Amino acid sequence: MSVAAVVTAAGSGSRLGADVPKALFPLAGRSLVAWAVLQVADACDDIVVTAPAAHVADVKAALAAVPELAGRPMLVIAGGAERQQSVAAAIDALFADDRTPPDIILVHDAARAFQDSDVTRAAIAAVRAGADGAIPVLEVVDTLVEATGPDGELGATVDRDGLRAVQTPQVFGAEMLHTAHRDFATARATDDAQLVRASGGKVVAVAGHESGFKVTRPSDLPLARHYATELLAKEQ
Ligand code: C5P
Repeated sequence: MSVAAVVTAAGSGSRLGADVPKALFPLAGRSLVAWAVLQVADACDDIVVTAPAAHVADVKAALAAVPELAGRPMLVIAGGAERQQSVAAAIDALFADDRTPPDIILVHDAARAFQDSDVTRAAIAAVRAGADGAIPVLEVVDTLVEATGPDGELGATVDRDGLRAVQTPQVFGAEMLHTAHRDFATARATDDAQLVRASGGKVVAVAGHESGFKVTRPSDLPLARHYATELLAKEQ
């Protein structure tokens, strides 16, 4: 079964406060988007990357600068206004009339550039074994409460044992994901599993990994550099 990756990298990354879009932020000699693509490339036959509309050429150049990605089938397209629209545009590109659509699509946030590749393999294996979708999850370590009301009083404490934090890559049967994005295009979802489940798909969990954290704020950068340096050392 063929596998295609959608790597979402069209966000501005304003919370990172850098002078380049987050996807282009350099870490140990490679851009964040290049690290994200490298982490999933071996598991995929085809890759579509979403880039900020004004930076499609820059993202292409950042990926072309990585010799390990040379010769990989890869398309860089302009993303949409929201993540969901970026993913939908990438899926449409994979289902374009002049291409053979993949059997399985994994959707991965470039912001989670250092996700352990075993997590990707486990999620793909779960879909190959028959699940409509498989997503990595982690136990929640913080105590959680409902947001404060208008009077400033804290909402109720939520039992964290019954909750999980969701990561990417999220892996789905390609037809299922395509249909879910088409049928729920006007819904607002922060991940793809929500759309597939709304479509009636059965999504299972696989164990996530702490390396799959989302690079969001400047304080995330030392950890991101740590993982980038560690991966680089493994290559040598
Ligand atoms: O903004 P957030 O952190 O939720 O973004 C998650 C991922 O979605 C990031 O990798 C970001 O680049 C991507 N994204 C996108 N298109 C957008 C907004 C975000 O591809 N319009």
